[in-house]
Amino acid sequence: MRVVILEDAQQVGSWAAEYIGRLVRQKPTVVLGLATGGTPVLCYQRIIAMHQEEGLSFSRVRTFNLDEYVGLPADDPNSYRSFMRQQLFDHIDIPASSTHVPDGMATDVTEHCRHYEQQIQDVGGIDLQLLGIGSDGHIAFNEPGSSLASRTRLKALAARTLQDNARFFGTLERVPRLAITMGVGTILEARQCLLLATGENKATAIRDAIEGPLTSQITASALQLHPQATLVLDEAAAAKLEQADYYRKAEALQVGC
Ligand code: GLP
Repeated sequence: MRVVILEDAQQVGSWAAEYIGRLVRQKPTVVLGLATGGTPVLCYQRIIAMHQEEGLSFSRVRTFNLDEYVGLPADDPNSYRSFMRQQLFDHIDIPASSTHVPDGMATDVTEHCRHYEQQIQDVGGIDLQLLGIGSDGHIAFNEPGSSLASRTRLKALAARTLQDNARFFGTLERVPRLAITMGVGTILEARQCLLLATGENKATAIRDAIEGPLTSQITASALQLHPQATLVLDEAAAAKLEQADYYRKAEALQVGC
């Protein structure tokens, strides 16, 4: 794993945006896996600036989001589809038809999940999957105990996740209890994974994911199995890493993975 430790959240967002921007320039038809949550917002803001000020085009890019709440229509202000529109899609030149977010209102969820996986296969797989991390160590909505071979499916949200995400809904009661999420196995098939983490409330999850054992209790630890996983952290999120000095030195020598 490549572990990049930067000063603050702003630097993490800019680093990730530059990384994604380089990929888009190299391969204008790149397939990006995208994430929601507070963490990638600064990255998306920088990507928007790169589009507006540097002419970076997303006209041929395809995107697949990690997850969506069950029971929220796409146009609900709290849906992840709305989040992506507000934070990114409405501000760049990507056609709406090239953006994919699971449908939280699907009537046949099993069939919808199968189709979502099929759509990913049909475009040749995801080139880069952007990820955040839950304070319980989850990626997407793969809560503790999720099979490390899991595929896109319905998942019940853990109490801690409901609590963490209540800030977006106003009250805990309004947070949907179920989500459709890409599985850990789906995520591991992306050619590259880029996980961002900022803030001290992620420090334990980050330590467990990078330096703990591979375990379904911390689904981000599955990235230890991925040959091209990069984790970009601010100082606060990296604060509990025992090998932080080693990662810094390795990064300076550019031998991260
Ligand atoms: C949700 C999302 C995850 C995200 C996590 C952390 O659970 N499903 O994909 O990584 O929140 O969000 P934040 O960046 O707001 O801490």
